[in-house]
Amino acid sequence: MIRSTDIRAKFSAFWKSRGHAAVPSSSLVPSDPSVLLTTAGMQQFKPYYTGEADPVRDFGSKSAASCQKSFRTSDIDEVGDERHLTFFEMLGNFSFGGYGKREAITYAYDFITAEMGLAISYVTVFEGSASVPRDEESAGIWKELKSDIDVRYEGMEDVFWGPTGSSGPCGPTTEIYVRNGAGEDIEIWNIVFNQFLYPGSREELLAGTADKELKPLAQFGVDTGMGLERLAMVVQKTKTVFETDLFAPLIAALPAELDERTKRVIADHARGSAFLLSDGVRPSNKGAGYVLRRLMRRVFAYMHLNALSNDIFEALMKIVIAEYGPEYQGLMKERDGIIDAMWAEWEQFARTLDRGVKAIAAMPSIDSKAAFDLYQSMGMTYEIVKELGGTKARGLNREDFDREFAKHQASSRAGAEKKFGGHGLILDTGELKAGNEEELKKVTRLHTATHLLQQALKDVLGGEVAQRGSDITVERTRFDFSFPRKVLPEELKKAEDIVNAKIAEDLPMTFVELPIEEAKKTGALYYFKEKYPERVKVYYAGRSLETAYSREFCGGPHVTHTGELKKFRIMKEEATSAGIRRIRATVE
Ligand code: ALA
Repeated sequence: MIRSTDIRAKFSAFWKSRGHAAVPSSSLVPSDPSVLLTTAGMQQFKPYYTGEADPVRDFGSKSAASCQKSFRTSDIDEVGDERHLTFFEMLGNFSFGGYGKREAITYAYDFITAEMGLAISYVTVFEGSASVPRDEESAGIWKELKSDIDVRYEGMEDVFWGPTGSSGPCGPTTEIYVRNGAGEDIEIWNIVFNQFLYPGSREELLAGTADKELKPLAQFGVDTGMGLERLAMVVQKTKTVFETDLFAPLIAALPAELDERTKRVIADHARGSAFLLSDGVRPSNKGAGYVLRRLMRRVFAYMHLNALSNDIFEALMKIVIAEYGPEYQGLMKERDGIIDAMWAEWEQFARTLDRGVKAIAAMPSIDSKAAFDLYQSMGMTYEIVKELGGTKARGLNREDFDREFAKHQASSRAGAEKKFGGHGLILDTGELKAGNEEELKKVTRLHTATHLLQQALKDVLGGEVAQRGSDITVERTRFDFSFPRKVLPEELKKAEDIVNAKIAEDLPMTFVELPIEEAKKTGALYYFKEKYPERVKVYYAGRSLETAYSREFCGGPHVTHTGELKKFRIMKEEATSAGIRRIRATVE
């Protein structure tokens, strides 16, 4: 049997020997704010397709390969069948102006047939649309490789990828289908030709939104994705992904008498929870935290209903850490945090779960509004209510529930604004948010620290460091910047020391307002993504603009003297995607 660890290794070696850089998985929490979680291997490479970033500079090749941690909430209702999952690993190869269709298809054919020893049942190619021609070229290449191959044409809905988020690269695809242990043909590999850039979402593209058009990309891009679990299923000839070695130890740790579907959901959700927690997500009522909360609470509910202890949940998390830790070191590093967060969430939910179960039992019927009330008052998530409600919850559907949820979030935002004196948050620059005076003081100090940090990173790592994002909360500043490799501990220490030296100098922090062209001439840093007005403020830390240590285009606010920061500390450095590093730091 080819084990899944061998599949990962073979995949990586295959592409390395064909000149691809091996790029590590990016975090499940993407740096692209328009996307909640990482759903595909290509996400971390978006700027390389568009030409905004240079792959040769960042990882030494126009082609790359990865095994990417991915998460799709769109499949959550299907989990429990033979092959749908929330978290999964995506094997992929990528080319940014390197090779074309012929190489992409031939390589994939070789990997599937020669390396994995599989037979291809059929392939699909794009049938064409009003704006994109039928992909005869791909069909021709497949026929050259195997003259009797079954080539099927499909449309936009099935064989046209992207964009992810609010805009991005996209294009026609060709997909490979292989027979699994149950005798079904399943899609295992999606090969995308990123030939276009679309200025909207996938939904807008499919709907044919007026005034949004596909624009050809300057360079031809290849983006492929193959779910490791599905590949393991066909290679290991199992009927479901849960019988592969990726899941077998988790399923085996569950009591045999649990029904099959429950076991699968628990195994999927425990694995997904461990990975989200290892990437720093914590359960909450919004964003990625809300996704995590739903996974964890569903496991708690199943344990409760089957009179099982959450020690089993803990045991599953530990199996995930042991099995996947060698591949994803973050799991091992965050081991205690993962387990602690699981128990903390249980402590919260334990207070209301039993009441929630009884409330559902007592209700004659449950619609979306009633379900949302159950969430609000007792933390019962949609999936639990739907499941426990049975036929009584026939009238409950996800869309209506999500609408209730969104309505509530909008009104609680309005409520929060009222609390802050009728003027909204007292500060909301997008980058910085504060609800009261005390928070304002903290985020202001962290903001000045972020300016000093950017300059210190340039001093230590060189001029290629450029800001790619920044987010400041009361607890910490989070700064994303371009840099092609891991920042060494001694380099971080140097940068930290520089910032602390500038704090000790107690430099004045002030600004001048200048016309934008003049401001650029001062050598001040600015963020290329931002649109600046005609006149901008340049904030500088120093006794004059010319001699200042740091100069940046910025709207403020800042402290008046760097001494107010007291002490600066870098907490963590990590990659968020290819060529982008993230630092979290605090001030005392
Ligand atoms: N980005 C493509 C997918 O995820 C390969 O299917």
